[in-house]
Amino acid sequence: MTKPTVWISRPFFPDIVDRLRPHFDVRAETEERKFAAAELAARLAVADAAIVGLAERIDATAIAAAPRLRFVANLGVGYNNLDIAALTGAGIGASNTPDVLNETVADYAWALMLAAARRVGEAERWLRDGQWHGSRFEGWLGADVHGRTIGILGMGRIGQAIARRAVGFRARVLYHNRSRLASAIERECAATYVDKATLLASSDHLILVLPYTPENHHAIGAAELAAMKPTATLVNIARGGIVDDAALARALADGTIGAAGIDVFEGEPAVHPGLLERQNIVLSPHIASASRDTRRDMATLAVDNVLAAFGHGPHAGQPPTILNPGVLADAS
Ligand code: GLV
Repeated sequence: MTKPTVWISRPFFPDIVDRLRPHFDVRAETEERKFAAAELAARLAVADAAIVGLAERIDATAIAAAPRLRFVANLGVGYNNLDIAALTGAGIGASNTPDVLNETVADYAWALMLAAARRVGEAERWLRDGQWHGSRFEGWLGADVHGRTIGILGMGRIGQAIARRAVGFRARVLYHNRSRLASAIERECAATYVDKATLLASSDHLILVLPYTPENHHAIGAAELAAMKPTATLVNIARGGIVDDAALARALADGTIGAAGIDVFEGEPAVHPGLLERQNIVLSPHIASASRDTRRDMATLAVDNVLAAFGHGPHAGQPPTILNPGVLADAS
């Protein structure tokens, strides 16, 4: 019997990919690249399963080119690149990689917040540039993080992991979320629910952890930035498009806010030129989950989902993090 084909859109850990080989004809890309619609269609045309990343949009057009496709595993917790309704309508299962990355992404949110508030990138560039000839007592003054108010917009599992870290910094945590958390979780996170306007006005450091949805498009735009403290730091480790990058560039230039730490961008890998011109921003190329252990865990989970969807591995028949489990019920 011929094996089903799995297409893997980017290279990752060969030993984890090897777990697919007994059961699949594996077609793995050997370099990281952006696929034009026709290239994506050609790859999906022969695929029974696909492991993809945020750059691959699997929408109705892609699905129309994929007559054999039964399962798509997304390498990430956010899955705004997948049209779940269209996939479900076509009887195609889909999975993401929740939970395994919560703590690693929370670490990185703190890293960006600390680096932006304390001007780590800016100071390092100055030092590397050979400009350190003496020290100025009033040089490099940044904003404290300890003892300050940290705001979290979007309080899912990653937001909660960020909040828990505040205890050691004796920082106060405010949060806003579509729905208020159960009081036991609020207590565990030592976090206080406030409305969005209070969050914007009261936070010394504001961290965005929202999923990208059409409603969250530009959730932080010019008006929201103007409502923040002029000394505030904004951190986005969630998704490009949640922040209006042009408005952020202006806000950093004219002192509307103090600093930013940004890992995700509208139209990435392109970065708004106005952001690149600013010194008071720490920029990184969408790496919040990129620790050695966590990227392996994400890859393992994606492979486990694909194996399970085709009746193999430890979760045979039950992809552990399927987003549209109704598809399985319909198939049985
Ligand atoms: C990365 O951005 C993810 O959604 O996991």
